[in-house]
Amino acid sequence: MWGVATSAYQIEGAAREDGRGVSVWDTFSHAPGRVRGGATGDVACDHYHRWPQDVALLRALGVGAYRFSVAWPRVQPGGRGRANAAGLAFYDRLVDELLGAGVQPWVTLHHWDLPQELEDAGGWLNRDTAHRFEEYAFLVGERLADRAAAFMTLNEPFVVMLRGYAHGAHAPGRTLGLGAFPAAHHQLLAHGLAARALREAGARQVGIANTYAPAWPATDRDADVQAAGLLDALHNHLFTDPLLRAAYPAPVLELLREHAPQELEAVRPGDLDVIAAPLDVLGVNDDRPDWVRADPRRPFGVAPEPAPTGGAGPEGLTQTLTDLKARYGDACPTLVVTGSGRALPDVPDADGRVRDAARIRSLEAHIEATRLAVQKGAPVSGYLAWTLMDNFEWADGFDQRFGLVHVDFGTQVRTPKDSFFWYQAWLREQA
Ligand code: NOJ
Repeated sequence: MWGVATSAYQIEGAAREDGRGVSVWDTFSHAPGRVRGGATGDVACDHYHRWPQDVALLRALGVGAYRFSVAWPRVQPGGRGRANAAGLAFYDRLVDELLGAGVQPWVTLHHWDLPQELEDAGGWLNRDTAHRFEEYAFLVGERLADRAAAFMTLNEPFVVMLRGYAHGAHAPGRTLGLGAFPAAHHQLLAHGLAARALREAGARQVGIANTYAPAWPATDRDADVQAAGLLDALHNHLFTDPLLRAAYPAPVLELLREHAPQELEAVRPGDLDVIAAPLDVLGVNDDRPDWVRADPRRPFGVAPEPAPTGGAGPEGLTQTLTDLKARYGDACPTLVVTGSGRALPDVPDADGRVRDAARIRSLEAHIEATRLAVQKGAPVSGYLAWTLMDNFEWADGFDQRFGLVHVDFGTQVRTPKDSFFWYQAWLREQA
């Protein structure tokens, strides 16, 4: 299965339309100094109005699957209670249009745009948010499960914990260090509760999209090796061991017991059984490998930096996929690469063409890296490139362009880049 992915806040815009409530990213992006250039997702790619054109692009591209996210504040403006009919109707139409274009809808329930009212009540630090998510998951499931190919409950809960609650570079901008752990646990609990609710609603496949990246020690000093082990546990195991082993990884438990034992009180008897509900798919969002040094001044005492050899390189992806199979063995579900991409400073040339040769090389190399992992025994069944079109790249605003389609944010003109045509031709060859 080959496709592309997007997320609601990054593309939709229409932030105040049809009863949509305020999300933490509306609040955060409107706060001065939080996002580069003062950018917000108020308009973004205006996908909320231009979705037929965007589905036409998907059809032209020839992908088999499209992963998009539902904006929780469109469905439940305050994060609880009855569904907002206009919000659900938008995704209902989108799903039908996708199916009409021969594209399987992969629905992510939560890609970071938590309703602000829930954040005001503590957000992911509040256990009740997990129950609110269960309710929301059922509402979306009831409406879309008859046609969606798969549901991903959460997108990258690690990033929400780390950037949202530990060091604050993302919404809601909390800087709690290890005090962010309850945000990890409650997201995992939310996933488990939602997985059950989605099955009740008739979902065909249920999964979660996690971020993964190899953590390599920068030197062979003991302290750096240990720091790399801890980052590996935080990034690659903290959100996967509970799902597939019903347990938290030992290095994370040791860290918390030593420095913040009270945070472990978030974990109640029975929670891990809920969290370890059966998974049909484990989504793998490919992140760049890190070289890690020990540094007591940094969060969790680890200082990652982009691995010089890894860069946005593909060998990290092969390792991520084979590591998952090696660690979890028979408990490793089907893997799908649910996001993998590269930002470049793309501009149309005088003739209107966007020549993003480096993205083509990167895409080809990552597809190859995925095939290599399959040869090595990793159970990978699909690859979704990040992303269909240039969009709101969180704290980086509109400066980071990851799309196969160029978007002029002044005019909303979409221009397929060379990488779009490369992927299109490559997909035709697979057919
Ligand atoms: C993965 C995240 O899920 C997505 O939202 C983000 O845009 C890309 N990484 C690129 O940073």
